[in-house]
This record gives sequence, C-alpha cells and structure tokens, in this order.
Amino acid sequence: MKLFKSRRKRQHTLQVPTRRRLHVSHLELGMYVCELDRPWRQTDFLFQGFPLLKVEHLQAVRQRCDYVFVDDTRRVSLDQGTFIMPSATPGRVKRDLPRIPLSLEVEEARQAYQASGLVIDQVLIDVQHGRPIDTRSCQVLVKRNLESLLRNESAMLWLTRLKAQDRYTGLHCLSVSILAMGFGVHLGLSNEKIETLGIAGLLHDVGKIKVDPRILNKPGKLTSEEFEQIKLHPAFGFQVLQGQADIPPAAVQAAHAHHERLDSRGYPLGLDRHQIPFITRIITIVDAFDAITSHRPYDDARPIQVAYDVLRSGGDKQFDEALVHEFIRWLGVFPVGTLVELHTGEVALVLEKHEKLHLRPKVVVLRDAEKRPCEARYLDLAQLTVDAQGVAYRISSGLPDGAYGLYLADPELQAILHPELLATLEPESALNPGARRTQLPL
Ligand SMILES: [Fe+2]
Repeated sequence: MKLFKSRRKRQHTLQVPTRRRLHVSHLELGMYVCELDRPWRQTDFLFQGFPLLKVEHLQAVRQRCDYVFVDDTRRVSLDQGTFIMPSATPGRVKRDLPRIPLSLEVEEARQAYQASGLVIDQVLIDVQHGRPIDTRSCQVLVKRNLESLLRNESAMLWLTRLKAQDRYTGLHCLSVSILAMGFGVHLGLSNEKIETLGIAGLLHDVGKIKVDPRILNKPGKLTSEEFEQIKLHPAFGFQVLQGQADIPPAAVQAAHAHHERLDSRGYPLGLDRHQIPFITRIITIVDAFDAITSHRPYDDARPIQVAYDVLRSGGDKQFDEALVHEFIRWLGVFPVGTLVELHTGEVALVLEKHEKLHLRPKVVVLRDAEKRPCEARYLDLAQLTVDAQGVAYRISSGLPDGAYGLYLADPELQAILHPELLATLEPESALNPGARRTQLPL
C-alpha cells in the first residue's frame, strides 16, 4: 500500500509569451494590435484587434493611445507583392443621417430599384454578348441607391427581399449591392468605399451569365461535373471585368474571389486569409446571406436564422468572423422583409426596423391566429401595443418566405409598400383602431 503520493514528474514546457506591451513609438507595420491601453469602446476603431498594414494605421493608433499590446503570433508579412488589406479599417465616418419616414422614401426607393433592375439586366446581356459594361450607368444607380439608404434604409432593404425567381441572377446582384452598401454605412465606411462596395456587389456574379443556363437553373441537386461548371463563374467574371479599365480593381477582385475562404478551401484559387481583400470579405458574407434567404431554382428560401447560423458557423473558416458579427448586429434578429409569428399566433411582415429596439420593429399583420388571411393591420411594436387580453405584442419566431402562402414577391404583398398606408405607422398619424399605445422606455 502506498502511503505517500507519488511525485508527478513536472513537465518542462517552455511558455513563450505571445503578447507584448509596447509604447506606440515602437510599433511597426505588420504588427497585430490585440489590446489597447483603454477600452475599445472608448475609441472609434472598428474592430477589437487588427494588423497594422498601412502608415495611416500606425498614425491612428499613435494618435489615440500611449501604449498597446501586440500579438506576435498574428504578425503579418508585408513583403508579399499581392498582400491585400484584410478586415481591419481603423477609423470610421460618423454620419448624422437625415432619416425621413418610410412612407416618404418608399416611392423613390421603388423607382430607383426598378431602374437599377433594368441596368443590371442590360449589364448581363452585354456580358453575354461580349460587349463592354456601361460602368457609368452602374455608378449612377449605385449613387442613387446609396442616397436612398442614407435617407431611410428600410425602404431599400425591403425591396431586396422582392426577388422574382426567373430573374434571380440579376436581382441577386442588385440585392447584394444594396445590402453591402447598407452594411458599409453601418460600418462607418467612407462614401467612396461604400460606392465601391455597391459596384462590387452589382458585378460580383456577372460571370454566371457565361455558365450553361440549363445547369444554372437546374432544379434539384447538381452532379459533381455540373458543380465544376458553376465553379467557373468567378474566373469568367474576372476575365470580363479585368479588361475594362473603368471598373474599380476592388470590384474585379470581388468577382474573382467571392467564393474564396479564409481557410484556403475556397475556389477558384484557394487564396489564404491574407489574400482576401476587405471589400471581397463583405461581398462574400452578403452574397451567402442573400442566396440562402432567397428562392433559387434549386432551393427554397430559408429563414433568416438559418442564414445567420451558416454565417456564424463559417466564422474564421469561410467568413471574416468580426464582419459576420457586425453584419448580424446590423440587420438584427428580424430584418425588414422578414415574416414573423407574433405571440398571438398571428403572422406578420416586418416593415421597418427600430433604430435601437431591434426586437420591436414596425410590422403588418397578414394572417390571423388560425393562419387564415385577414385584413392587413399595422402594429408598431416599439409602442406598447396590446392584444385583446391586454398582453403586449411581441414576436415569438421568424418564418421563411412562403410560410402560410405569403410570398414577398407577390404583387399583393408588394402593394403594402404604399406611401399612404405606411403613413399610418408614423408617429403623427392616427392610432390604429382598437390598439392602445405608449412609448416603451429605451
Ligand atoms: Fe458567385
């Protein structure tokens, strides 16, 4: 019998510190800043950790801090000619957005969206016939759509949900352009960078027009040979766009690299994380989100939550994790154009998000508690709107497009975006009959 504990042999492992505290005067390009001498939230840095890739980054840190911590395991090499800036963008543009009510923006947004649809259709026809793209028209539509987003982003976001399946490729490109710009505004990027995002989104999938339409529009699962054909579209897009000098290089890169992954398992080149540019990282996330939540020839639209799960699970492998986090924070749990079930069992459509109360958007009820069609009834959930039992309305879950026969692309549903009807939602408008409302504390 043992009376004493045997002495465990101590492992002689060498602990190598990877974080170092440095005075800002000692910072060098390529170092990875992982912690500041003050809380991140007290600064205007966009991300909590970033590599110093440009002299401006060094200056930004030196202006804001006395010392920082750097992580030597995340140092990046800057001697590669192809090195492109990843997700760090220190500094953000602060905007005092002149928000206007949805009812005042929806008509202009609709006209801008319809005009944009015609432009992207023409772009795809031109690519198909080997003609140059009318870049000027693309720039004009991007500017017009950005102006609408800055006035009231819900109007444009709503329209991105209205995709007819037979025009999927063109309208998907347009949706990605609008969503990427809205996200760019949320990130505090400059107008110039946001417009580049808009062009990149618009043109990211133009290579698909060179893929056999029987494969592109095939309902059901693709064979491995057919999938190999689909995988050619980024290279086709690159070939088309790189030949046109007036297309921003970032948009050409996005068309080429939007199916690349941070873990190098993407296509067509298998780039590594340091070779995937910032604009492309955004387009990759928005592209996946819009595709998953839209009806496609080979798959039904999935609920927003499924898209969020895909993005989160792909964080740091397929997608830029920090950008995924921000993207979900921006769109919120129940984005504009989402079908939701209320606690009463009624089914409603989210019309406009609340700036601060993300779980309490403005909605319109379209199905009663038994899921039968009912007269459209508007509710502003940021107000304390109560049901017949005096219980405050709340959203219980999100639903996929098509739930209970409600398809966003149906003209009947699109008619809801009528300025006069929407005006009833705005604060100065008359209260909904039968509803008592009080402003909820923020
Ligand atoms: Fe694509």
